[in-house]
Amino acid sequence: MKGIVLAGGLGTRLHPLTKITNKHLLPVYDKPMIYYPIRALVRAGITDILIVTGGNHSGDFLTLLGNGKEFGLQHLNYTYQEGEGGIAEALGLAEYFAAGEKICVILGDNIIEKSIAKAAEAFRRQPKGARILLKEVPDPERFGVPVLEGDRIVRIEEKPIEPPSRYAVTGIYMYDARVFEIIRGLEPSARGELEITDVNNAYIETGDLAWDILDGWWTDAGTFPSLFRASELVRDMGSKRCE
Ligand code: G1P
Repeated sequence: MKGIVLAGGLGTRLHPLTKITNKHLLPVYDKPMIYYPIRALVRAGITDILIVTGGNHSGDFLTLLGNGKEFGLQHLNYTYQEGEGGIAEALGLAEYFAAGEKICVILGDNIIEKSIAKAAEAFRRQPKGARILLKEVPDPERFGVPVLEGDRIVRIEEKPIEPPSRYAVTGIYMYDARVFEIIRGLEPSARGELEITDVNNAYIETGDLAWDILDGWWTDAGTFPSLFRASELVRDMGSKRCE
């Protein structure tokens, strides 16, 4: 399975910090944000990785990450997203890289405590479809939120005013090659972006979306409170964070 880190976008919710750099290069405690999602993939045994960047500061990713030596990698792949077309558009750029293989996608501002190796292994064995990771949160209205009937997800609502459950759809998604076909058929949402939630809903419609609950803490880092919280969580892990 190949790995894709989505690290484009303009990060407008973090202005003025993101006027002078890309959101994913900002510090989360003692490391640049993007280190954490890359490490999450590597810890799950995924070492063939593509970074999708964008905006005005994308050259800095190469300066920072090079060939990924710091993560025990010999090579990293890069591609560039022009403009602000959304997460699903950014993912569409990875089709040539995926080359028909299964992929594990992680948003560059998602930080996790524990390993996703078990979910990745379950997806390797899954014959087809997609797999997402859910986490119970105090503020589901900030995220994609699943509508659950028993243990079946019947729909995902993006940033609902009245959340239908207490779970967030985390920014860790596993897909088979059909994902690129789905992306080609998407229409932009009200905010003018191709939404990853629409991709997941397409898998739900054909009964092909599996899910797990993510172990350990999870946070995004795309707003001032969550960026601050991410630093605190990483700091409080102490020496465990290097494992
Ligand atoms: C995105 C997705 C949302 C998901 C979240 C996870 O939201 O659209 O469904 O729950 O990432 O971090 P964004 O933070 O880009 O608005």
